[in-house]
Formats: sequence, C-alpha cells, structure tokens
Amino acid sequence: MAVDVLLGLQWGDEGKGKLVDRWSRRGYDYVARFQGGPNAGHTIFHEGRRVVLHHVPAGIFAPGVRCVIGNGVVVNPLTLAQEVETLRGVGVEVGKRLIISTRAHLILPTHPKIDASHEKSQNIGSTLRGIGPTYQDRVARRGLTVGDVLWDDFPHRVRHLTEIHRQMGVAPPDLQAFMQAACALTEHEIADVETMLTDALDSGAMVLAEGAQGTLLDLDFGQYPYVTSSHTTAGAACTGLGIGPRRIRHVIGVFKAYATRVGNGPFPTELEDDEAERLRTAGGEYGATTGRPRRCGWLDLPALKYAVKLNGVDILCMTKPDVLSNYGRIKVCVSYTDAKGNNHRVLPSVPERRGLVPNYVELSAWNEPRKEDPGFAKFLNLVESELGMRVEYVSYGPGREEIRHYP
Ligand code: GDP
Ligand code: IMO
Ligand code: MG
Repeated sequence: MAVDVLLGLQWGDEGKGKLVDRWSRRGYDYVARFQGGPNAGHTIFHEGRRVVLHHVPAGIFAPGVRCVIGNGVVVNPLTLAQEVETLRGVGVEVGKRLIISTRAHLILPTHPKIDASHEKSQNIGSTLRGIGPTYQDRVARRGLTVGDVLWDDFPHRVRHLTEIHRQMGVAPPDLQAFMQAACALTEHEIADVETMLTDALDSGAMVLAEGAQGTLLDLDFGQYPYVTSSHTTAGAACTGLGIGPRRIRHVIGVFKAYATRVGNGPFPTELEDDEAERLRTAGGEYGATTGRPRRCGWLDLPALKYAVKLNGVDILCMTKPDVLSNYGRIKVCVSYTDAKGNNHRVLPSVPERRGLVPNYVELSAWNEPRKEDPGFAKFLNLVESELGMRVEYVSYGPGREEIRHYP
C-alpha cells in the first residue's frame, strides 16, 4: 500500500532505533534500511536489555514484521553475523525474517583499512567501518554485491578486489573468516528487494523505511566534507529500496531536544568543557557504535528547519526532553548572524566559512516533559512556531512505551 519513512533530522543518534521499534508495531509488514551500513548504531531496550543494531532494522523485535536491507545499504557480513548472534542471545531469531538485496554492496576486510588511511589526511571523524571506501568501489563499478556471493567465481572476485586494494597500499588480509561469513548470508533471504517490495505494496503491504545517520550528515546536504558517504534524506528511501516516489505516504522526522554530533565538522551551538560535559552525562551521550563521547550543544532551530524542509517532513517526533528536566536555564538557537552581519533563520551552506554566530532564546527548563508543565509548553511553542508545524510525538525515555502522542 504505502511506505512511511522515519529518519533523523540532526547529526544522527536522534533515537531512531527506539522509535522504529515502537512504530513498527503499527501494522507494518516490512521495516527496511535503505542507506548507510554498520556506521549506524540504533539502540533498543528489549525486555530490560540494551541491544545496539548496526544493520538489522529495528523492526526485528516486532512479532510478524519482516526486515529488509535494501540495495542502498553496505553490508559487512562479519559484523552482521555478530549482530544476529546478539539478537539470538535476547531470544530473537533473525534467519529468513531478514531479506537482503542482491544489490547491496559488501564491505570487505580491506575497506575499514582504507578508511583508516584516508582518515589520516581528511580527519572527518569517520566511524572507520569502511563505509566510504565501499561506496567508492560501488561508484567505481568494481564493488562486490550480496548477489555475487551466490556465484562460483565469488572467491576469485574477492581476491581481484583485494588485489586492487593492495595496489592502493593496503596489505592483503586473511580472508577466511570473511568468506565464511559471506557464505553464511544465505541463512537469510537474498532477493531482488525492489521487485519483492513493489509487488508487496501492490498487494496492500505497509513498509516502514528506517533512516540511518541524520540529515545534516547527508553526502550533498550535510556540511561537506564532514558528511557520511550516502544520502540520508527522504529521497534515498526510493533509490535505496527501489520504490517509486509516489509510494511514500508520511515522512516522520526525529530530533533531540538538544543537539549532538560525533566526529568533526561545524556545530554552531556546540557547548564547551564543563557545560558540554554536563549535557553529555545527563543524556548518556556516548557513541552506540564507537563509544566516542558525543559533542553536545543546544537545539539548533535554523538547522532543524532546513532538515524539515529538505525531507518534506509531515510528522515530527521529539526525543530526550527528559534529559533537560530540572536542568535550570537552557538555550535554543533561533537564528545565526554571519560575518557580514546578515541574519539567517535557515541553515545556509558551508557555515564554517561564514563564521555563523548563533542567536539564542533563553528559557527555564521544565520539571516534566509534558504539555501540562508550563516550562515544557513554552519550549514546545517556541519550536513549533519557528518550524511552522506541530510536534506530534514526544519520547521521554529510552523504553518502548515512553512516548506521548499529541494529536
Ligand atoms: P539512533 O542512532 O538514532 O537510533 O540513536 P542512538 O541509539 O545512537 O542514541 C540514542 C540514545 O538515546 C540511545 O541510548 C537510546 O536508548 C536513548 N533514547 C532514545 N530516546 C530517548 C528518550 O526519549 N529519552 C532518553 N532519555 N533516552 C532516549
Ligand atoms: P546513526 O544511524 C552519528 C558520522 C561519523 C562521522 C561521519 C562520517 O546511529 O545515527 P562514516 O563512518 O560514515 O564515514 O562517518 O558521520 N556518523 C554518525 N554519527 N550517528 C550515526 O549513525 C553516524 N554514522 C556516521 O561520526 O562524523
Ligand atoms: Mg546511533
């Protein structure tokens, strides 16, 4: 029937995993990842245990839902196998509930090494999971896909690509574990996802597309070059799953009540030293994939407005306002002033070159993140009036049930 896309509106880690886990219980038949790879870390609490997913869509905990990895995703068979084991450990069997596109590209053991060597000169703050180099090989038309695993010449093709990597200065790795894990991908269903999904949609199925990273890390619309190597915006759900744009019904945008960023790049509302540490500790802001401390700052409404426009968001969800409960004074950025004195109410491109200075509104934090609390109502009003739209859902804790709907 239709596809709803749920994605992050900031620099990632907005709480997409928690929301997809919750949302997937609303009559969806499929939950599908459409871009990125194991650079993602999506946290879910399941029966009191914390699970971090890197490839497997967060719909895996919802009974009866099938999970899809689309052609736009890059897959590391070794880390996927570990993830499947982790899920088994919490009583969730993945097996054929996971459908992987024949066209998804494979991350080889050499790709993270290339990432590490690029990082030395580029200093992006990559997760070093080999994401960029795998997409590079895809664009260079020499990458290997999940479908290639099914063919007899797969070992030969792996050796061919690692030979190219050797010529780029990366020592040939031991490929035994990789080959085993790649062959084990057949424990899952390997399929032409584009055909399977469009047929299912024609037969009335509902699909939830799960974004990874965040809008401000998009390859084009993020703050280049401090971006990831895929498109993280709504349009990528079409190209990353093989579905037409008219299939998309809702675009659900998720943002935190403050801002975080892992890795380098501009962050106009970033806090320093003790102030940053206070927010980091309050929000538990450490990377779900790498464990790195996340940079922390105040909510940036011009950047959020940009992300809402770019994705055509029609349903907004706020997460983590509970972190700011009883916080004292808080700030919200409502505009920037550039070096020439111009005012910007929407994030312009390449802010670091323009020396943007944030203009803040100061508020008192709330006791409780609910509309009946005057402090929270004031904060919500400011966000809604600046964005020109309502915040329909407010998540107030990491648990599946901790969410309020304001219809
Ligand atoms: P994702 O990458 O967007 O899925 O987000 P991460 O899992 O990397 O980071 C979000 C963190 O915040 C996780 O530890 C979640 O368990 C937690 N979380 C999600 N929503 C809420 C919320 O509303 N309140 C609080 N306090 N924590 C939340
Ligand atoms: P989820 O899905 C936060 C960041 C990295 C780095 C930049 C490029 O959990 O929100 P890459 O590994 O893609 O080459 O890194 O992007 N990054 C993320 N930051 N959450 C993520 O995913 C991220 N995935 C990549 O920190 O700045
Ligand atoms: Mg994350």
